[in-house]
Amino acid sequence: MGSSAMSSEPFRVGLLGFGTVGSAFAELLEQRAEEIERFNGRRPVISGVLTRTQGSFEEILAGADLLVELIGGIEPAREYLLTAMNAGKDVVSANKKLLSHHGEELFETARERGVRLRFEAAVAGAVPVVRVLEESLSATPIERIHGIVNGTTNFILTEMTRGSSYAEALAEAQRSGYAEADPSDDVSGRDAAAKMAILARLAFGTPVHLNDVCYEGIEHLHGDDLEYAREFGLGLKLVGTAERRQGGLSVHVHPTFLYSGHPLAAISGSFNAVTVESGTITEITLSGPGAGGLQTASAVLGDVVSVMTGGARPPAPPLPLAIIEDVESAFYVHLDVADRPGVLAAVTQVLYEQGVSIKSVVQRGMGEAARLVMVTHPVLESSLRAVIKRVGEFDFVRSTPRAIRVIEEEFV
Ligand SMILES: NC(=O)c1ccc[n+]([C@@H]2O[C@H](COP(=O)([O-])OP(=O)(O)OC[C@H]3O[C@@H](n4cnc5c(N)ncnc54)[C@H](OP(=O)(O)O)[C@@H]3O)[C@@H](O)[C@H]2O)c1
Repeated sequence: MGSSAMSSEPFRVGLLGFGTVGSAFAELLEQRAEEIERFNGRRPVISGVLTRTQGSFEEILAGADLLVELIGGIEPAREYLLTAMNAGKDVVSANKKLLSHHGEELFETARERGVRLRFEAAVAGAVPVVRVLEESLSATPIERIHGIVNGTTNFILTEMTRGSSYAEALAEAQRSGYAEADPSDDVSGRDAAAKMAILARLAFGTPVHLNDVCYEGIEHLHGDDLEYAREFGLGLKLVGTAERRQGGLSVHVHPTFLYSGHPLAAISGSFNAVTVESGTITEITLSGPGAGGLQTASAVLGDVVSVMTGGARPPAPPLPLAIIEDVESAFYVHLDVADRPGVLAAVTQVLYEQGVSIKSVVQRGMGEAARLVMVTHPVLESSLRAVIKRVGEFDFVRSTPRAIRVIEEEFV
């Protein structure tokens, strides 16, 4: 211990939860305490730990300058954070589920009490996107955010691109520790949707609940789609998007094709990345490890230091902005059809009637059947869904048509 430790009081951190992230956080804090004290004047120490079997919340709260919540889930995490903030304590949390359901209540309490609520680790693991949005880009009018914010699904899609089936890729993700025994929150897109709700709130200042985010997972993707898409120069990612549209805000998560010039196209394995677009900055991309105890703990400790140095402000009040659901996008469309005259003309007629125009198309015969794969120009999702429904009713269509979004922008 350095001699300066005697010169000021330690900074007492009450730790709620001592699992994967909590235990890594406690270890990292101990390793880094001296260095933090050197530039900050106070030495952070863990003043109490709460788990299901040890510690008393009331005692930990009374004896701490700041609480770190690493329990997860809604209750009792919500109750503990509200109680701590109402008692005038700053708090740090990595809890995306809680923030995407009760963010406004927590932000409101932090604002009312004039305390800090930090949550860097709730969004993209070790990627410091929260701080960049709140501080570095706070004067930038953001137009759009795209994010690969779930490492498990990015790992699975990377494996599928290399030729694995969905089931093989999922099994490999579980073997390597990237996917949990029950991966449903990840593969359904729900985890990414929760993170996009939090990011959208930060970037656009308007309340976004998980229920406002339309999401679709990767469970129904076919290896075929990845193969065909390669012919168009496209790669597949689970992309979350939050963007200004028609005077409102649209937030959604879908499997999405990207051209190779898009910064997210290169993000592989379990990494996360977030792209921020604005007229003033063009595009900024942040990327790094998406999860893991130590990586997450490092983001949590960064939040603690930020509070210690007074760098973070209480959250700003919300702005009203409508949530828009029907937005334009380009689409990849895959049709299995009978190989006979008139098929292409019939499909083209439906596209024409819905105002959908085609950017590129590949048709391949396979005996009696043919595959018709195309990429459209941007079209309202409702028009594209109408095309899929009508085309699916033709007797020459052999299986349910598939449509996947395509992001057209490239930043090269
Ligand atoms: N793991 C990651 O890579 C990662 C990445 C980003 C964000 N996060 C977030 O970090 C948070 C913690 O995740 P984790 O993976 O560390 O979870 P975990 O390993 O399951 O640990 C949870 C801890 O909370 C304690 N706990 C559970 N219910 C409690 C209750 N009612 N009262 C008091 N303590 C309770 C558990 O106590 P016992 O020890 O007694 O069971 C355990 O110590 C979650 O919000 C998660 O979403 C995790």
